[in-house]
Amino acid sequence: MNDLPLSGKIAVITGAGRGIGKAIALRFAREGADVALCARSQKELSEVSSIIDRLDRTCLALSVDLANPEQVKNFCDRIIDKFGAVDMIVNNAGAYLERGTFEDSDPDLWWRTMEVNVRGPYLITHHLLAVMSQGSKIINLTSGKGYSAGANSNAYHVSKAALNMMTEGLANELWSRDIDVNTLVPGPTATATFDNASPGQERTPEEILAQDKSALPKGLPAWERVKHPDEVADFAFYLATRPVGGPTGQIYSLARRPL
Ligand SMILES: NC(=O)c1ccc[n+]([C@@H]2O[C@H](COP(=O)([O-])OP(=O)(O)OC[C@H]3O[C@@H](n4cnc5c(N)ncnc54)[C@H](OP(=O)(O)O)[C@@H]3O)[C@@H](O)[C@H]2O)c1
Repeated sequence: MNDLPLSGKIAVITGAGRGIGKAIALRFAREGADVALCARSQKELSEVSSIIDRLDRTCLALSVDLANPEQVKNFCDRIIDKFGAVDMIVNNAGAYLERGTFEDSDPDLWWRTMEVNVRGPYLITHHLLAVMSQGSKIINLTSGKGYSAGANSNAYHVSKAALNMMTEGLANELWSRDIDVNTLVPGPTATATFDNASPGQERTPEEILAQDKSALPKGLPAWERVKHPDEVADFAFYLATRPVGGPTGQIYSLARRPL
């Protein structure tokens, strides 16, 4: 088992209870990585970690609200205690708390979106950078909406634009340590966030993908395609396995339209 591409590597993946984060966690574990996962839902995390246990990988799975700095610090301290080093951070968790107009938005939810989507990745990365070494990777999940906002969902758009800039700035600082920092834009992907599902009403990716294309959200061009989360995990795996000297400070989009 030592010859798998990620054998001996430690990956931290936020928002790994479902959707894209779950797909990345399972893919990285299948490729040999030990993983540290967080999300708020302990039930969803337990389901993911039991699959990873069966793969015979080490999995630390903690219920963490990324908007809570103490919980984030505790998560990172536990990671350092357990593993001593981190090779990959995937800042995947994202809050999409409002979809209405700027005028109707709730200032508290607007700010909470920044706490989860911007300060969360900042704190995770800030706490763990000291235990990352040459060849490590940081992958930040953002959105096409962080490039061209359109109307509504202002907090989400602003938060993703900020995370794009965090990626670029950090890449410019970490190149000398050979730590690559890149942005991954999934494009439309069959998850609860995409589906705007209420808690407890989440459908599987297969159920979402099986529905008639006309039932999918408006605003996507006809040539856009909704992906399975495993397709995003494929690309995260590709980024995680670039050799030293690979791309950094880049934006990789799986969308089928210009950002
Ligand atoms: N799906 C798409 O079409 C699409 C398109 C563009 C970008 N993205 C981005 O891709 C990333 C993954 O999205 P997804 O579609 O996979 O969403 P998802 O299926 O809804 O999963 C989101 C994950 O993040 C966790 N999370 C949310 N708020 C959190 C918080 N405050 N603290 C800790 N964990 C939290 C959720 O768990 P809990 O709720 O249990 O905390 C869940 O595990 C996000 O950054 C999203 O913005 C997705």
